[in-house]
Amino acid sequence: MSGGAGFIGSHVTVELIEAGYDVIVADNLSNCDMTCFNGVKKITGREDIPFVKMDFCNPVATELLFDSNQIDAVIHFSGYKAVGESVMDPLKYYKNNLESFINVIESARDHGCSNILFSSSATVYGEPDVLPVTENTPRQPATSPYGNTKQMCEDILRDSVKAYSNIRGIALRYFNPIGAHPSALIGELPRGVPNNLVPFITQTAIGKRECLSVFGDDYPTPDGTCQRDFIDIVDLAKAHVFAVRRMLEGKMKDEYEIFNIGTGKPLSVMELIKGFEKANGVKLNYKIAPRRPGDVTAIWADPSLANKELGWKAERDIEETLAAAWAWEKHIASGE
Ligand code: UD1
Repeated sequence: MSGGAGFIGSHVTVELIEAGYDVIVADNLSNCDMTCFNGVKKITGREDIPFVKMDFCNPVATELLFDSNQIDAVIHFSGYKAVGESVMDPLKYYKNNLESFINVIESARDHGCSNILFSSSATVYGEPDVLPVTENTPRQPATSPYGNTKQMCEDILRDSVKAYSNIRGIALRYFNPIGAHPSALIGELPRGVPNNLVPFITQTAIGKRECLSVFGDDYPTPDGTCQRDFIDIVDLAKAHVFAVRRMLEGKMKDEYEIFNIGTGKPLSVMELIKGFEKANGVKLNYKIAPRRPGDVTAIWADPSLANKELGWKAERDIEETLAAAWAWEKHIASGE
């Protein structure tokens, strides 16, 4: 698993191990530390999970990893993900996100690793005309270099599996992953000021941030704030187990498949804030601020293809998810 020590990777590692798979976690730790990986070891009770500190932009290191291990499937998470930064420094994003994925595909192809799972994003849909979005909803031109790398990586995978007959691929398009593992031992650990809504909420609730800005309340939505498909991180992680199993068991219907990983239920920014207050019995200090450039008004998934083909479904309810996010924030603050 590339980029396996981060927010999504650590939750996926737990679910894969609990499903009986052996996992090698590889990460260059450029955007996280060992906190979550150590949490994964505690949750699973497995001190022996292999960890390789390496950069997938290095083709030699990537080759070596595949040379020295029998790898049946690879999940590619590694990549930069800050939308704003990608606009300021696009080459950093193109270089890192594309090079690392190309190296992974090449090494997989050359080492008999047939199964490649790519972590994509709902960002590829841009501002959709029709909601909810299905996998056939046309992608819109990306609004940021980050979003563009997601589209380009999808295309690289699609074209590669078409050309090289010994590999196949799945792209999972995540909607808005939030929350934390119920153990509160792993969760989202943004560096600096969080860009994403839920880490900003929990940091405001704990007093690290003074006030949460709600970016725009004049959108054409029921309450004027943006609508998203917030998906619990544990639910999202489980989708990877189903997708990996589908590949390993040769159940794919096409050499390249795409699945939306969302709940199918829209929730507004304001509904999420109120949900957080209710779930945790806390009051959030927030104010209405101007719209954030680049935000889409509303997007949520039609997850029926993943429900049917993967046999996966989002299950946790939003209050549980927001309680887990809060428990994780308190766990970090406790410094344990
Ligand atoms: C963003 C990225 C998306 C990425 C995803 C990862 C953009 C345009 N998209 O999605 O590509 O895959 O993160 O989770 O940046 N909000 C506030 N106040 C805040 C922070 C956010 O009101 O302090 C609002 C935003 O305006 C938005 C919603 O909360 O309407 C969700 O924002 P965020 O968590 O950043 O996710 P996205 O922008 O949907």
